[in-house]
Amino acid sequence: MDIVDALIEHHGVLRTLAQQAEADPALFEEYQRHLVVHHTMEEKYFYDFLEQVASARKDSLEAVNEHHIIELILKDAEDFPRDHERFPIKVEGLGEYTAHHLDEEEMDIFPLGRQVLDPDDLVELGKLFVEAKDRLLSVKPPEAPGNIDTSGNVARRSAARGLGIGSLKK
Ligand SMILES: [Fe+2]
Ligand SMILES: [Fe+2]
Repeated sequence: MDIVDALIEHHGVLRTLAQQAEADPALFEEYQRHLVVHHTMEEKYFYDFLEQVASARKDSLEAVNEHHIIELILKDAEDFPRDHERFPIKVEGLGEYTAHHLDEEEMDIFPLGRQVLDPDDLVELGKLFVEAKDRLLSVKPPEAPGNIDTSGNVARRSAARGLGIGSLKK
């Protein structure tokens, strides 16, 4: 499987998680985890090479900039109260912007990558992407202990949780 097929396969997972997280806020973190791993490894094994090809540089930089915009949307949603009626709207907006990015990659940028990069290199990069993605997604940090006294931090934490854009306006 070359890097393009491997990326498209993971896009399918991202599209499904977007729909699931919209319906169930508890799945937002899983969606976020997949998005961050996808972007980071897609840049390491695809865009870092594509941007070195003069004819593909501008498209490549634009796509990576879209990753940055998605990460800003993620950052906003991350601190937003999960029980607020606007939270699913935030996740829906994130899913819509991300879908636009995935469509553009599949329709324009991946075909361009196949034109300008060597097929054997694409296969090698695909193997590395799949290995890195699977390894990163399998990492499960140990559960935090349940006996830590956080009473002194509760007010500060809940205040920080309410600072997503638009969260203070009911
Ligand atoms: Fe991307
Ligand atoms: Fe992608």
